Amino acid sequence: MKSVLNDIAVYFYGNSSNIPVLFVHGFPYESHMWDFQIKELQNNFYCITFDCRGLGGSTSGDGQFTIESFVDDLIYIIDELKVNIPVLCGLSMGGYIALRAIERMQKYFRALILCDTKSDADNNEAKLRRAAGIKLINQEGAPKFIEGFVPTCFSKNSVQNLPIYKITLERALTSDPVGVKGCLLAMQGRTDTTSYLERIVIPTLVICGENDTFTPPQVMKTMKDKIRNSEFIVVPGAAHMTPLENPEYFNKAVKKFLSKLN
Ligand code: MLT
Repeated sequence: MKSVLNDIAVYFYGNSSNIPVLFVHGFPYESHMWDFQIKELQNNFYCITFDCRGLGGSTSGDGQFTIESFVDDLIYIIDELKVNIPVLCGLSMGGYIALRAIERMQKYFRALILCDTKSDADNNEAKLRRAAGIKLINQEGAPKFIEGFVPTCFSKNSVQNLPIYKITLERALTSDPVGVKGCLLAMQGRTDTTSYLERIVIPTLVICGENDTFTPPQVMKTMKDKIRNSEFIVVPGAAHMTPLENPEYFNKAVKKFLSKLN
């Protein structure tokens, strides 16, 4: 089922009396990136996804986004739909949003799943890369940027052999340039949530692709070590897009983690 709440496209699957799991996608993707997980979980969990403003089915407006405003949207969805203490699952940019949401309102959430993400803010090099991305979009269009960016998120093998790679790229290519640039600026301006990690008390699962170059296993393991009630898994054969590149392994780990919650 789909609903549009405050210009945000929100999708729900399963029975609302089950434990809710709220999925936040990465950049420059949209809620379809969780399709393999929804299919697997919807019979036992209430699954909710949404398209971050400016991506997928959510309109860009003026494109002036911040991670803070994405968190406001997330909280708005939970309040509006009266979602009962969800598990929060975010990948990469979705993880930046999830970590800041936890820092702001940990009590809103039952558990946390951090996929291919990090708590650090952008360093100077990353900030300059975002700026170069925006310049490229202005000069040559968003597809040029997306065609260069998306393959770096997947392993070589996934790019060559997984049908979902092409589907994901094609979806990303339809993105509104204003939305893509707005997300780049939001990520560039995000705060560092590292100092809050030791205050996270809800059960946390940290997931990383073995070949992730954006947020490599060592970076994610260091983050995991600061979260007291946490587990860490490395997904074989995957780079930055673990739920798409090795959904069987990913889903098994998530189901095991969720089965321990009440
Ligand atoms: C993502 O997958 O959301 C992005 O790679 C995050 C980023 O560019 O920092």
